[in-house]
Amino acid sequence: MTTVLGIESSCDETAAAVVQHDGVVLSDVVRSQIAAHAPFGGVVPELAARDHLRAIVPVVLQALGEAGLRLAEIDAIAVTHRPGLIGALLVGVQAAKGLAWASNRPLVGVDHLVGHLLSPFLQRAGVVSELPVFPFVGLLVSGGHSAIYRCEGPEAEQMHELGATRDDAVGEAFDKVSKLLGLGYPGGPVIDRLARVGVPGRSFSLTAPMAQRDSLELSFSGLKSAVARKVADQPPESDEAVADVCATFQRVVVDTLVTKTIRAARRENIPNVVIAGGVACNSELRRSMAAACEQRGLRLFLPAPRTCTDNAAMIAYAGAVKFRLGQTSGFDLAPLTHTELPRVTRKGRGPRKP
Ligand code: KG4
Ligand code: ZN
Repeated sequence: MTTVLGIESSCDETAAAVVQHDGVVLSDVVRSQIAAHAPFGGVVPELAARDHLRAIVPVVLQALGEAGLRLAEIDAIAVTHRPGLIGALLVGVQAAKGLAWASNRPLVGVDHLVGHLLSPFLQRAGVVSELPVFPFVGLLVSGGHSAIYRCEGPEAEQMHELGATRDDAVGEAFDKVSKLLGLGYPGGPVIDRLARVGVPGRSFSLTAPMAQRDSLELSFSGLKSAVARKVADQPPESDEAVADVCATFQRVVVDTLVTKTIRAARRENIPNVVIAGGVACNSELRRSMAAACEQRGLRLFLPAPRTCTDNAAMIAYAGAVKFRLGQTSGFDLAPLTHTELPRVTRKGRGPRKP
């Protein structure tokens, strides 16, 4: 059995985990910086980097301790080295290099997006989950990324972007809408909660973005601006009216994500669907995607909410896959802001010409 220590510091979670190559999670420590960023309504890169620096050593020690293993008993050290905030990534990468050097263990650089797409393979104690089957269509929706992939296998070269957001990520749109409604950060969980008591279209209406039939591209900044304009024109004056804005916004977003994912599965003729990333915690997205997949005879693999948001267990698992394929990294491993998965959608500039 291969056992890997994973380290994650690409955004606002300092995380470390120990995972076996079969996906069994031995420990999974996530230290969130939400409280530090909340007053600013979003992640402040400089604050994130400094906070990672304070947290990284205790978090790694806790992950090893909870797994009941010493560094000498670990087979490899995996770390997110792209994409993310450069100062934040640097902390995890340097920590991983130091540990790998000191323990004479191989270092494995992992792309954060590959980690998210492989996250449904994690197996947690007490949670029975069906393991995904390749090929699958993967909808990755988080605070920094939103895209649909065709995944033919667990390696980055086997993951192909079918369409991505042209502008904001979905989670970013949730966070911005929450901020303009004065609901705080992060916005996803609070909008999810309020949407349950609101009624879509009752006292507020919106039109779906990028609804063109064929496109697998996404766009959320126009939708966010539409919410901002309408709220400025007619501020919601009761809790019920605020809940209606949340419910309407969430309904439009979820409908768009479900429609595009189903379209991708059909177009690619793939019967398996995975959703991943922080927004995959959204209760309406989970429910609607499950219903749409069932209706069309598609199999949906839904990771546990803890697996959807940023964590190091998915990085350790992706690292174990690479390590077993002999894909280790040198000590020149550098943090990078962009993913290694080739893009087909150009941010802000429409589809890439072949
Ligand atoms: O994957 P993640 O933890 O970090 C990134 O890689 O970005 O995703 C964080 C994002 C935030 O924008 C947060 O608002 C969103 O996921 N999120 C949700 C929910 N829970 C978290 N969005 C919608 N509904 C939720 N229940
Ligand atoms: Zn993420």
